[in-house]
Amino acid sequence: MTDGPIVVTGATGNVGRPLVALLVDAGVEVRAVTRTPAGAHLPDGVQVTDSVREALRGASAVFLNSRALAADLAQVITDARDAGSVTRLVALSAANADDDVARQPSRFRGDRNKEVEQLAVDSGLAWVSLRPAVFASTSADMWSAQLRAGDVVSGPFACASFAPIVDADISAVAVQAILGGHLDGRRIPLTGPEAFTVAEQVAVIGDALGRALRYQEVDPALVRDRLVAAGAAPEFADAYIALQAAAATQPAVVTRDVEEILGRPATPYARWVDAHRELFSNQPRLTERDQP
Ligand SMILES: NC(=O)c1ccc[n+]([C@@H]2O[C@H](COP(=O)([O-])OP(=O)(O)OC[C@H]3O[C@@H](n4cnc5c(N)ncnc54)[C@H](OP(=O)(O)O)[C@@H]3O)[C@@H](O)[C@H]2O)c1
Repeated sequence: MTDGPIVVTGATGNVGRPLVALLVDAGVEVRAVTRTPAGAHLPDGVQVTDSVREALRGASAVFLNSRALAADLAQVITDARDAGSVTRLVALSAANADDDVARQPSRFRGDRNKEVEQLAVDSGLAWVSLRPAVFASTSADMWSAQLRAGDVVSGPFACASFAPIVDADISAVAVQAILGGHLDGRRIPLTGPEAFTVAEQVAVIGDALGRALRYQEVDPALVRDRLVAAGAAPEFADAYIALQAAAATQPAVVTRDVEEILGRPATPYARWVDAHRELFSNQPRLTERDQP
């Protein structure tokens, strides 16, 4: 257990928001960093600030999200070390952080998953690096517009395989990393409990929604052009296609680290979809469970 407050960067995000809630539940003092404290809607008792430097004063540990820290990433880690009170950094990295950058589309949106880990390692502080696979929420980001418009998801490489991890499972592991000490010095690969091809993943969504959905494979070059036409940087689009192509060559790796660390299985993707049906449908269908 740590002594001072825990600083959570990216606190309103996919991993940060559940992390803040879990830390509050654990009875820990939390300082949440966001660009817009007034609109953060975080739990009562959380200190919300737009200044990481301010948050670091007297803090004991920092959760680092490179997307949120952007150009301030390296300085924040220096400041954390210089604060004197911080003993542990937990970096949100990625399963593919060591891959060729040409297969890391998020880098072209500014994410620095390799650097956040390496800066934590080099900080001289205790560190843990979380290396998640694709988040469950990414399927909603990618497909919800198509699934609100119809029953077909079109994209490249129907057999591309991923083991999506439910975002809040990453947060739960982060709590252990922040508070425990037993995970220090580890780069931890985090996946969901099952690998699916994207075609299978769309079928899982269909089962949860009670709809006959299907994945339609289209020429990767067309998908690339579609992404660019929608405003993506060409480098991002190229890296997205390269990532999908590589994922189509073999089944995704499934790790057991979530279960080992949390003492319960990683949350099935299907359960996450079922709890988030509204993300994929304008009119969520009633299931038996919803009947009065
Ligand atoms: N999605 C995946 O499948 C996946 C897989 C593996 C690793 N990762 C990595 O996980 C990290 C993202 O984590 P996440 O999904 O929890 O983050 P997120 O929800 O996208 O963002 C976290 C918070 O950062 C702020 N933010 C977002 N974009 C920003 C920008 N461009 N500049 C400054 N602040 C920004 C926002 O907070 P405010 O608006 O409140 O300031 C946001 O709520 C990235 O490094 C990503 O590469 C993602």
